[in-house]
Amino acid sequence: MSVNRSISIILLCAALPLAGCDSSRAPAFQLSEQSLGLSGFAQEKVQGELDAGFGSPAELVVWPELEVDFGQFGGTIGKVGPRPGTIRIGQTETDGLASLSTLGNEKLLSGLKGAAVVVAKASNAAESSDTVAPVETGSGENSGVSDVYRVASYDVDSRLLTVVDGAGQPVQLDVSEGDTVQVLGSALQSGRNLYLRHCMHCHGVSGDGAGPTAQYFKVKPRDYRQGVIKFSSTKAAVPRPSRDDLFRIVKLGVPGTYMPSFMLLPDDEVNLIVEYVRWLAMRGEMERKLNAWLTTSYSQAAVDEASSAEELEAEFKTEWADEAGDRIGQFGNDLKVDWQDADKPESVVNPSVPRTPSSSESIARGKKIFLSKDAKCASCHGETGRGNGPSTEAFNDVPGQPPGTKSDKPGLFDNWGNIVKPRDLTTGVFRGGRRPIDIYRRIHSGIKGTPMQAFGTTLKEEQIWDVVNYVLNIPFEEQKGGH
Ligand code: HEC
Ligand code: HEC
Repeated sequence: MSVNRSISIILLCAALPLAGCDSSRAPAFQLSEQSLGLSGFAQEKVQGELDAGFGSPAELVVWPELEVDFGQFGGTIGKVGPRPGTIRIGQTETDGLASLSTLGNEKLLSGLKGAAVVVAKASNAAESSDTVAPVETGSGENSGVSDVYRVASYDVDSRLLTVVDGAGQPVQLDVSEGDTVQVLGSALQSGRNLYLRHCMHCHGVSGDGAGPTAQYFKVKPRDYRQGVIKFSSTKAAVPRPSRDDLFRIVKLGVPGTYMPSFMLLPDDEVNLIVEYVRWLAMRGEMERKLNAWLTTSYSQAAVDEASSAEELEAEFKTEWADEAGDRIGQFGNDLKVDWQDADKPESVVNPSVPRTPSSSESIARGKKIFLSKDAKCASCHGETGRGNGPSTEAFNDVPGQPPGTKSDKPGLFDNWGNIVKPRDLTTGVFRGGRRPIDIYRRIHSGIKGTPMQAFGTTLKEEQIWDVVNYVLNIPFEEQKGGH
């Protein structure tokens, strides 16, 4: 194999494929446009890494190093048999999202089907109980960890687990009473099932925001692959959203856009969807990181320009062999750190001074700041907040391009390359929530992925509260003005 050895340790052995249900009909993840611009040989490696670390929608892969709750459910074997491949789970012990979902809710049991089953012999249980055993499965013979089986069915009431081998055939299990059994990845699979049902038609199978319905919307569904969302509660320096942020968005929707509210979905199901969205984002980020590394030297354009395509390919092979293991290890680690940070309590913007009660004085102070040179709110939102400030007519920088690269059409752009209008603040519709703290956070951290930058360092906390009071009052001010 041409794959560098350290990658195969990071990805191929650590990652555990999960067979999906109705795999014949499940759609595929698409490569990003950037990846499609790579030369064939580089593209093949990118695809290979994504397949190894994440799999396909039909066959998801558990990569335990990622900051994802893949779902674990397990216990001690109470009884083996009666038929081949059946185990009666005696004592159950559960953790992670999977337990709350898989054991209660009928709908979510679907995620168990095809999930990976790993058995550890009782004599080795002490070693393998605190780590997730299947991390070792690639190599097989070490420790007392079994081959990977798959769940064919599980009956919650009788705790009867029926397992099959990778090819779906019944297996004669080499297990006995007291061995521990772990079922892995059911939460991710349940999340996928729910996502395909509720979100895919807008956000796309790959989370690229280009599902079949997306073409009809002016405000495009979010492309998750940058790991960035607009309406998060986290500080400007924290690039990712927290699980709570995603939960809230799915529950409440994004008012004023086609992003619906899923208020009626049970919390369990929303948690599973959120976990799947995070995982899709990480897959997209990994692809972006690989691209950022390879695109300058090994794009198709570089091949076309090279004096010798063979030489360039040979150069690529050497660079890949020397560096891929370290790079991919680093990328995986970056993902972990970023997503872990987002869930830390100290990453959330919580002002240390309470809201200044709204009063005509506070509103007047807020208005002054709004119109000031420091805050420049009016340059985008306009003097009366209608969203028609001078920046909307200027030729602005294009995100993702070197600074100073101006667009050939006027207007502001978000990081996804879409024109984005500053909010018309006279309507009183706020996409990220209308609580004072929501508006506070928008101003403090800016709106990520958009030209609205963070004001948390320019403005003092009290000043931000004054601006919040002004912003919340704009719709009424407008009415008085006779509109
Ligand atoms: C009818 C189309 C549609 C459906 C269905 C839909 N979305 Fe969205 N979603 C959107 C649009 C449009 C936006 C962009 C809103 C914006 O940019 O202001 C969005 C934005 C988002 C965002 C980002 C919000 C932010 O702060 O940047 C997340 C996260 C999200 N959707 C998750 C989901 C999930 C999860 C589901 C399924 C449970 C789902 N969406 C279903 C259309 C949809
Ligand atoms: C460089 C342009 C720019 C500046 C400067 C700017 N904004 Fe914005 N603002 C935007 C854009 C663009 C959006 C819409 C982002 C989106 O939803 O995609 C927005 C959205 C908003 C929203 C709506 C939030 C929501 O939940 O819907 C508020 C409130 C807001 N801005 C307030 C302010 C205030 C107050 C200031 C000054 C302290 C300010 N903005 C400065 C561009 C700007």
